[in-house]
Amino acid sequence: MGELRGTHVPVLLERCLELLAPALDRADGRTTVYVDATLGLAGHAEAVLAAHPRTVLVGLDRDTEALAHARARLERYSDRTHLVHAVYDELPEVLDRLGYDRVDGILFDLGVSSLQLDAPDRGFAYAQDAPLDMRMDQSAGTTAEEVVNTYSHGELARVLKVYGEERFAGRIASAILRERERNRLTSSARLAELVRESIPAPARRTGGHPAKRTFQALRIEVNRELAALETALPAALDALSVGGRAVVLSYHSLEDRITKQVLAGRARSTGPVDLPVELPGTGPMLRLLSRGAELPGEAEVQVNPRAASVRLRAAERIERDGGSSTTTRRAVRERPGRVVGETGSTGAGASNGSDGARRELPRPATEGGGTTVQGEGR
Ligand SMILES: C[S@@+](CC[C@H](N)C(=O)[O-])C[C@H]1O[C@@H](n2cnc3c(N)ncnc32)[C@H](O)[C@@H]1O
Repeated sequence: MGELRGTHVPVLLERCLELLAPALDRADGRTTVYVDATLGLAGHAEAVLAAHPRTVLVGLDRDTEALAHARARLERYSDRTHLVHAVYDELPEVLDRLGYDRVDGILFDLGVSSLQLDAPDRGFAYAQDAPLDMRMDQSAGTTAEEVVNTYSHGELARVLKVYGEERFAGRIASAILRERERNRLTSSARLAELVRESIPAPARRTGGHPAKRTFQALRIEVNRELAALETALPAALDALSVGGRAVVLSYHSLEDRITKQVLAGRARSTGPVDLPVELPGTGPMLRLLSRGAELPGEAEVQVNPRAASVRLRAAERIERDGGSSTTTRRAVRERPGRVVGETGSTGAGASNGSDGARRELPRPATEGGGTTVQGEGR
Protein backbone atom coordinates (compact mmCIF):
# COMPACT_ATOMS: atom_id res chain seq x y z
CA MET A 1 0.00 0.00 0.00
CA GLY A 2 1.49 3.33 -1.06
CA GLU A 3 1.51 6.57 0.90
CA LEU A 4 -1.92 8.18 1.07
CA ARG A 5 -1.92 11.21 -1.22
CA GLY A 6 -3.99 13.96 0.34
CA THR A 7 -7.32 13.11 1.94
CA HIS A 8 -10.76 12.25 0.66
CA VAL A 9 -13.35 14.34 2.46
CA PRO A 10 -16.64 12.39 2.59
CA VAL A 11 -19.33 14.25 0.66
CA LEU A 12 -22.68 15.19 2.31
CA LEU A 13 -21.59 13.11 5.32
CA GLU A 14 -24.03 14.53 7.88
CA ARG A 15 -26.97 14.20 5.50
CA CYS A 16 -26.05 10.59 4.68
CA LEU A 17 -25.82 9.74 8.39
CA GLU A 18 -29.15 11.43 9.07
CA LEU A 19 -30.88 9.51 6.27
CA LEU A 20 -29.38 6.14 7.19
CA ALA A 21 -29.86 6.37 10.97
CA PRO A 22 -33.50 5.16 11.22
CA ALA A 23 -32.65 2.13 9.09
CA LEU A 24 -29.58 1.17 11.11
CA ASP A 25 -30.96 1.70 14.64
CA ARG A 26 -34.01 -0.54 14.87
CA ALA A 27 -36.48 -0.37 17.74
CA ASP A 28 -35.93 -4.06 18.57
CA GLY A 29 -32.18 -3.47 18.96
CA ARG A 30 -31.22 -6.12 16.41
CA THR A 31 -27.90 -6.11 14.58
CA THR A 32 -28.21 -4.31 11.25
CA VAL A 33 -26.24 -4.69 8.03
CA TYR A 34 -24.89 -1.69 6.13
CA VAL A 35 -23.47 -1.98 2.61
CA ASP A 36 -21.02 0.63 1.41
CA ALA A 37 -20.94 -0.25 -2.28
CA THR A 38 -18.13 2.23 -2.99
CA LEU A 39 -15.98 2.02 0.12
CA GLY A 40 -13.12 4.20 -1.17
CA LEU A 41 -11.08 5.49 1.75
CA ALA A 42 -13.92 4.56 4.12
CA GLY A 43 -14.81 8.09 5.23
CA HIS A 44 -18.55 7.42 5.18
CA ALA A 45 -18.09 3.87 6.45
CA GLU A 46 -16.03 4.90 9.46
CA ALA A 47 -18.64 7.48 10.49
CA VAL A 48 -21.45 4.92 10.15
CA LEU A 49 -19.60 2.34 12.24
CA ALA A 50 -18.84 4.94 14.92
CA ALA A 51 -22.48 6.09 15.07
CA HIS A 52 -24.04 2.60 15.05
CA PRO A 53 -22.32 0.13 17.37
CA ARG A 54 -24.73 -2.66 16.43
CA THR A 55 -24.16 -2.30 12.68
CA VAL A 56 -22.05 -4.67 10.58
CA LEU A 57 -20.37 -3.21 7.48
CA VAL A 58 -20.08 -4.93 4.11
CA GLY A 59 -17.71 -2.67 2.15
CA LEU A 60 -17.03 -3.17 -1.56
CA ASP A 61 -14.49 -1.55 -3.81
CA ARG A 62 -13.03 -2.60 -7.13
CA ASP A 63 -9.78 -0.78 -6.34
CA THR A 64 -7.38 -2.88 -4.26
CA GLU A 65 -5.36 0.17 -3.22
CA ALA A 66 -8.48 1.87 -1.81
CA LEU A 67 -9.40 -1.34 0.02
CA ALA A 68 -5.96 -1.52 1.65
CA HIS A 69 -6.29 2.06 2.94
CA ALA A 70 -9.86 1.39 4.10
CA ARG A 71 -8.76 -1.76 5.93
CA ALA A 72 -6.11 0.18 7.85
CA ARG A 73 -8.54 2.96 8.70
CA LEU A 74 -11.23 0.59 9.95
CA GLU A 75 -8.92 -1.68 11.91
CA ARG A 76 -10.56 -0.97 15.26
CA TYR A 77 -13.89 -2.13 13.83
CA SER A 78 -12.48 -5.31 12.28
CA ASP A 79 -14.85 -7.55 14.30
CA ARG A 80 -17.83 -6.09 12.42
CA THR A 81 -16.50 -5.37 8.95
CA HIS A 82 -16.32 -7.42 5.78
CA LEU A 83 -14.21 -5.68 3.13
CA VAL A 84 -14.50 -7.22 -0.31
CA HIS A 85 -12.69 -6.65 -3.60
CA ALA A 86 -15.63 -6.62 -5.99
CA VAL A 87 -17.47 -4.57 -8.57
CA TYR A 88 -20.73 -3.44 -7.01
CA ASP A 89 -22.87 -5.32 -9.51
CA GLU A 90 -21.52 -8.45 -7.77
CA LEU A 91 -23.29 -7.45 -4.54
CA PRO A 92 -25.88 -10.30 -4.60
CA GLU A 93 -23.10 -12.92 -4.79
CA VAL A 94 -21.10 -11.14 -2.08
CA LEU A 95 -24.11 -11.10 0.28
CA ASP A 96 -24.79 -14.73 -0.54
CA ARG A 97 -21.23 -15.72 0.35
CA LEU A 98 -21.45 -13.80 3.63
CA GLY A 99 -24.84 -15.32 4.48
CA TYR A 100 -26.86 -12.08 4.54
CA ASP A 101 -30.19 -12.29 2.74
CA ARG A 102 -31.30 -8.77 3.72
CA VAL A 103 -29.46 -5.52 4.40
CA ASP A 104 -30.65 -2.40 6.19
CA GLY A 105 -28.66 0.47 4.71
CA ILE A 106 -26.84 1.00 1.42
CA LEU A 107 -24.66 3.82 0.18
CA PHE A 108 -23.40 4.37 -3.37
CA ASP A 109 -20.91 7.26 -3.47
CA LEU A 110 -20.23 7.04 -7.19
CA GLY A 111 -17.22 8.00 -9.24
CA VAL A 112 -13.57 8.24 -8.38
CA SER A 113 -11.89 9.00 -5.07
CA SER A 114 -9.22 11.58 -4.40
CA LEU A 115 -6.80 8.68 -4.05
CA GLN A 116 -7.41 7.78 -7.70
CA LEU A 117 -7.67 11.33 -9.05
CA ASP A 118 -4.51 12.49 -7.34
CA ALA A 119 -2.43 9.43 -8.21
CA PRO A 120 0.41 10.51 -10.49
CA ASP A 121 0.52 7.09 -12.18
CA ARG A 122 -3.12 6.14 -12.88
CA GLY A 123 -4.04 8.48 -15.71
CA PHE A 124 -7.35 9.85 -14.34
CA ALA A 125 -6.15 13.44 -14.17
CA TYR A 126 -5.70 15.67 -17.20
CA ALA A 127 -3.54 18.02 -15.13
CA GLN A 128 -0.60 15.63 -14.75
CA ASP A 129 1.19 13.39 -17.19
CA ALA A 130 0.71 9.65 -16.69
CA PRO A 131 0.18 6.47 -18.70
CA LEU A 132 -3.38 6.35 -20.04
CA ASP A 133 -4.74 3.70 -17.69
CA MET A 134 -7.89 4.97 -15.86
CA ARG A 135 -8.92 1.53 -14.59
CA MET A 136 -10.27 1.61 -11.06
CA ASP A 137 -9.36 -2.07 -10.82
CA GLN A 138 -5.83 -2.27 -12.15
CA SER A 139 -5.91 -6.05 -12.08
CA ALA A 140 -8.42 -6.39 -14.93
CA GLY A 141 -10.08 -4.82 -17.95
CA THR A 142 -9.34 -2.48 -20.81
CA THR A 143 -7.19 0.63 -20.32
CA ALA A 144 -7.87 4.09 -21.71
CA GLU A 145 -4.77 3.59 -23.87
CA GLU A 146 -6.44 0.61 -25.55
CA VAL A 147 -9.64 2.61 -26.05
CA VAL A 148 -7.99 5.60 -27.72
CA ASN A 149 -5.73 3.44 -29.89
CA THR A 150 -8.24 0.82 -31.07
CA TYR A 151 -11.75 2.32 -31.22
CA SER A 152 -13.06 3.49 -34.58
CA HIS A 153 -13.76 7.18 -35.17
CA GLY A 154 -17.49 6.53 -34.71
CA GLU A 155 -17.04 4.60 -31.46
CA LEU A 156 -14.72 7.23 -30.00
CA ALA A 157 -17.01 10.08 -30.96
CA ARG A 158 -19.99 8.27 -29.40
CA VAL A 159 -18.14 7.70 -26.12
CA LEU A 160 -17.07 11.36 -25.91
CA LYS A 161 -20.48 12.67 -26.88
CA VAL A 162 -22.62 10.41 -24.71
CA TYR A 163 -20.46 10.01 -21.60
CA GLY A 164 -18.74 13.40 -21.74
CA GLU A 165 -21.52 15.43 -23.37
CA GLU A 166 -18.68 16.83 -25.47
CA ARG A 167 -19.87 19.14 -28.27
CA PHE A 168 -16.64 18.67 -30.21
CA ALA A 169 -16.56 14.87 -29.94
CA GLY A 170 -16.12 14.36 -33.70
CA ARG A 171 -13.19 16.80 -33.96
CA ILE A 172 -11.46 15.26 -30.94
CA ALA A 173 -11.95 11.75 -32.34
CA SER A 174 -10.43 12.89 -35.67
CA ALA A 175 -7.41 14.37 -33.87
CA ILE A 176 -6.90 11.13 -31.94
CA LEU A 177 -7.02 9.08 -35.15
CA ARG A 178 -4.52 11.40 -36.89
CA GLU A 179 -2.19 11.19 -33.92
CA ARG A 180 -2.26 7.41 -33.70
CA GLU A 181 -1.39 7.09 -37.41
CA ARG A 182 1.92 8.67 -36.45
CA ASN A 183 2.47 7.35 -32.92
CA ARG A 184 0.61 5.24 -30.41
CA LEU A 185 -1.12 7.57 -27.94
CA THR A 186 0.13 6.61 -24.48
CA SER A 187 0.24 9.72 -22.31
CA SER A 188 -2.51 11.67 -20.54
CA ALA A 189 -0.67 14.96 -21.14
CA ARG A 190 -0.54 14.35 -24.92
CA LEU A 191 -4.25 13.45 -24.95
CA ALA A 192 -5.12 16.61 -22.98
CA GLU A 193 -3.09 18.66 -25.50
CA LEU A 194 -4.88 17.06 -28.50
CA VAL A 195 -8.26 17.81 -26.93
CA ARG A 196 -7.30 21.41 -26.24
CA GLU A 197 -6.13 21.89 -29.84
CA SER A 198 -9.38 20.37 -31.19
CA ILE A 199 -11.68 22.76 -29.34
CA PRO A 200 -12.13 26.20 -30.92
CA ALA A 201 -10.54 28.99 -28.85
CA PRO A 202 -13.80 30.75 -27.85
CA ALA A 203 -15.26 27.47 -26.52
CA ARG A 204 -12.07 26.80 -24.55
CA ARG A 205 -12.73 29.83 -22.42
CA THR A 206 -15.87 28.36 -20.84
CA GLY A 207 -16.77 25.17 -19.02
CA GLY A 208 -13.53 24.50 -17.13
CA HIS A 209 -10.52 22.62 -18.45
CA PRO A 210 -11.11 21.64 -22.10
CA ALA A 211 -10.02 18.03 -21.46
CA LYS A 212 -12.33 17.50 -18.47
CA ARG A 213 -15.25 16.06 -20.44
CA THR A 214 -13.04 13.76 -22.57
CA PHE A 215 -11.32 12.32 -19.49
CA GLN A 216 -14.65 11.79 -17.76
CA ALA A 217 -16.01 10.01 -20.84
CA LEU A 218 -13.02 7.70 -21.17
CA ARG A 219 -13.13 6.86 -17.45
CA ILE A 220 -16.81 5.92 -17.70
CA GLU A 221 -16.14 3.75 -20.76
CA VAL A 222 -13.05 2.05 -19.30
CA ASN A 223 -14.83 1.17 -16.05
CA ARG A 224 -18.25 0.43 -17.60
CA GLU A 225 -19.59 2.69 -14.88
CA LEU A 226 -23.12 3.17 -16.15
CA ALA A 227 -23.76 -0.47 -17.06
CA ALA A 228 -22.56 -1.52 -13.60
CA LEU A 229 -24.86 0.99 -11.91
CA GLU A 230 -27.87 -0.05 -14.01
CA THR A 231 -27.45 -3.62 -12.79
CA ALA A 232 -26.26 -2.92 -9.26
CA LEU A 233 -28.80 -0.39 -8.05
CA PRO A 234 -31.95 -2.51 -8.65
CA ALA A 235 -30.24 -5.54 -7.12
CA ALA A 236 -29.20 -3.52 -4.06
CA LEU A 237 -32.74 -2.16 -3.59
CA ASP A 238 -34.11 -5.70 -3.83
CA ALA A 239 -31.83 -6.71 -0.95
CA LEU A 240 -33.19 -4.03 1.42
CA SER A 241 -35.23 -5.10 4.44
CA VAL A 242 -38.52 -3.29 5.07
CA GLY A 243 -37.52 0.01 6.66
CA GLY A 244 -34.08 -0.27 5.04
CA ARG A 245 -32.72 2.79 3.27
CA ALA A 246 -30.54 3.49 0.23
CA VAL A 247 -28.64 6.70 -0.45
CA VAL A 248 -26.99 7.46 -3.80
CA LEU A 249 -24.50 10.27 -4.43
CA SER A 250 -24.02 10.94 -8.17
CA TYR A 251 -21.54 13.32 -9.73
CA HIS A 252 -22.79 13.63 -13.28
CA SER A 253 -26.15 13.74 -14.96
CA LEU A 254 -25.98 10.27 -16.51
CA GLU A 255 -25.50 8.56 -13.14
CA ASP A 256 -28.17 10.75 -11.59
CA ARG A 257 -30.62 9.97 -14.40
CA ILE A 258 -30.20 6.21 -13.90
CA THR A 259 -30.64 6.63 -10.14
CA LYS A 260 -33.73 8.78 -10.57
CA GLN A 261 -35.34 6.31 -12.99
CA VAL A 262 -34.60 3.25 -10.88
CA LEU A 263 -35.87 4.84 -7.66
CA ALA A 264 -38.94 6.40 -9.28
CA GLY A 265 -39.82 3.13 -11.02
CA ARG A 266 -39.93 1.33 -7.67
CA ALA A 267 -41.76 4.13 -5.88
CA ARG A 268 -44.84 3.82 -8.03
CA SER A 269 -47.46 1.20 -8.64
CA THR A 270 -46.97 -1.15 -11.58
CA GLY A 271 -50.63 -2.16 -11.70
CA PRO A 272 -53.19 -1.03 -14.31
CA VAL A 273 -53.82 2.71 -13.94
CA ASP A 274 -57.59 2.46 -14.08
CA LEU A 275 -58.02 -0.02 -11.20
CA PRO A 276 -59.12 1.54 -7.89
CA VAL A 277 -57.15 -1.02 -5.81
CA GLU A 278 -53.67 -2.52 -5.98
CA LEU A 279 -53.31 -6.02 -7.34
CA PRO A 280 -51.04 -8.33 -5.34
CA GLY A 281 -47.38 -7.50 -5.93
CA THR A 282 -48.02 -4.32 -7.89
CA GLY A 283 -47.76 -1.75 -5.09
CA PRO A 284 -44.74 0.51 -4.76
CA MET A 285 -41.77 -0.98 -2.91
CA LEU A 286 -40.02 2.31 -2.11
CA ARG A 287 -40.83 5.61 -0.45
CA LEU A 288 -38.69 8.44 -1.81
CA LEU A 289 -36.88 10.35 0.93
CA SER A 290 -35.54 13.18 -1.20
CA ARG A 291 -37.64 15.52 -3.25
CA GLY A 292 -35.79 15.55 -6.57
CA ALA A 293 -32.02 15.63 -6.19
CA GLU A 294 -30.51 17.27 -3.12
CA LEU A 295 -27.52 19.54 -3.65
CA PRO A 296 -24.65 20.45 -1.34
CA GLY A 297 -24.67 23.70 0.56
CA GLU A 298 -22.26 26.48 -0.39
CA ALA A 299 -20.26 26.03 2.79
CA GLU A 300 -19.46 22.40 1.94
CA VAL A 301 -18.47 23.25 -1.64
CA GLN A 302 -16.12 25.93 -0.38
CA VAL A 303 -14.16 23.53 1.81
CA ASN A 304 -14.50 20.56 -0.55
CA PRO A 305 -14.75 21.58 -4.23
CA ARG A 306 -15.22 17.92 -5.21
CA ALA A 307 -18.67 18.12 -3.61
CA ALA A 308 -19.76 20.77 -6.12
CA SER A 309 -21.41 18.45 -8.62
CA VAL A 310 -22.97 15.97 -6.19
CA ARG A 311 -26.66 15.04 -6.39
CA LEU A 312 -28.17 13.00 -3.56
CA ARG A 313 -31.22 10.77 -3.87
CA ALA A 314 -32.53 8.44 -1.20
CA ALA A 315 -35.38 6.01 -0.63
CA GLU A 316 -36.79 3.65 2.00
CA ARG A 317 -38.04 0.12 1.40
CA ILE A 318 -41.69 -0.29 2.34
CA GLU A 319 -44.02 -3.25 2.56
CA ARG A 320 -45.36 -4.07 -0.89
CA ASP A 321 -48.91 -5.01 0.03
CA GLY A 322 -51.03 -4.59 -3.05
CA GLY A 323 -54.27 -6.53 -3.26
CA SER A 324 -55.96 -5.53 -0.01
CA SER A 325 -59.45 -4.14 -0.44
CA THR A 326 -58.43 -1.16 1.71
CA THR A 327 -55.40 -0.39 -0.44
CA THR A 328 -56.54 2.44 -2.64
CA ARG A 329 -54.54 3.65 -5.60
CA ARG A 330 -55.34 7.34 -5.46
CA ALA A 331 -52.29 8.76 -3.71
CA VAL A 332 -49.76 6.56 -5.47
CA ARG A 333 -50.23 8.40 -8.72
CA GLU A 334 -50.10 11.85 -7.16
CA ARG A 335 -47.11 13.98 -7.99
CA PRO A 336 -45.78 16.96 -6.07
CA GLY A 337 -44.91 20.23 -7.79
CA ARG A 338 -41.62 21.08 -9.42
CA VAL A 339 -38.54 20.25 -7.44
CA VAL A 340 -36.39 22.96 -5.92
CA GLY A 341 -32.79 22.71 -6.95
CA GLU A 342 -33.19 19.97 -9.55
CA THR A 343 -30.68 20.27 -12.37
CA GLY A 344 -29.73 18.05 -15.22
CA SER A 345 -26.32 19.18 -16.30
CA THR A 346 -23.14 17.21 -15.93
CA GLY A 347 -20.75 18.41 -13.29
CA ALA A 348 -22.41 21.77 -13.22
CA GLY A 349 -21.50 22.19 -9.60
CA ALA A 350 -24.61 24.24 -9.11
CA SER A 351 -25.68 25.07 -5.64
CA ASN A 352 -29.02 26.42 -4.71
CA GLY A 353 -27.35 28.75 -2.27
CA SER A 354 -28.91 27.11 0.73
CA ASP A 355 -28.33 23.76 2.27
CA GLY A 356 -29.95 22.16 -0.71
CA ALA A 357 -33.41 20.57 -0.81
CA ARG A 358 -32.86 18.94 2.54
CA ARG A 359 -36.32 18.25 3.87
CA GLU A 360 -37.26 14.62 4.14
CA LEU A 361 -40.59 13.95 2.52
CA PRO A 362 -43.44 13.54 4.99
CA ARG A 363 -44.43 9.99 5.79
CA PRO A 364 -47.56 9.03 3.92
CA ALA A 365 -50.73 8.65 5.97
CA THR A 366 -50.89 4.94 5.16
CA GLU A 367 -47.29 4.18 6.09
CA GLY A 368 -46.97 0.61 7.19
CA GLY A 369 -49.57 -0.26 4.61
CA GLY A 370 -47.05 0.95 2.05
CA THR A 371 -49.52 2.25 -0.44
CA THR A 372 -49.05 5.99 -0.55
CA VAL A 373 -45.74 7.12 -1.87
CA GLN A 374 -44.69 10.54 -3.03
CA GLY A 375 -43.70 10.58 -6.66
CA GLU A 376 -40.90 12.50 -8.32
CA GLY A 377 -40.93 16.16 -9.12
CA ARG A 378 -40.42 15.66 -12.83
C1 LIG B 1 -16.04 8.59 -4.42
S1 LIG B 1 -15.15 7.20 -3.90
C2 LIG B 1 -15.89 6.75 -2.38
C3 LIG B 1 -15.38 7.52 -1.21
C4 LIG B 1 -15.89 7.05 0.13
N1 LIG B 1 -17.32 7.24 0.27
C5 LIG B 1 -15.15 7.73 1.25
O1 LIG B 1 -15.78 8.42 2.06
O2 LIG B 1 -13.93 7.57 1.34
C6 LIG B 1 -15.73 5.98 -4.98
C7 LIG B 1 -15.08 4.63 -4.81
O3 LIG B 1 -15.91 3.69 -5.47
C8 LIG B 1 -15.13 2.76 -6.16
N2 LIG B 1 -15.95 2.28 -7.27
C9 LIG B 1 -16.38 2.99 -8.34
N3 LIG B 1 -17.11 2.22 -9.14
C10 LIG B 1 -17.18 1.00 -8.53
C11 LIG B 1 -17.83 -0.22 -8.86
N4 LIG B 1 -18.54 -0.37 -9.99
N5 LIG B 1 -17.70 -1.26 -8.01
C12 LIG B 1 -16.98 -1.13 -6.86
N6 LIG B 1 -16.33 -0.01 -6.51
C13 LIG B 1 -16.44 1.05 -7.33
C14 LIG B 1 -13.90 3.53 -6.60
O4 LIG B 1 -12.83 2.64 -6.79
C15 LIG B 1 -13.70 4.50 -5.44
O5 LIG B 1 -12.78 3.98 -4.51
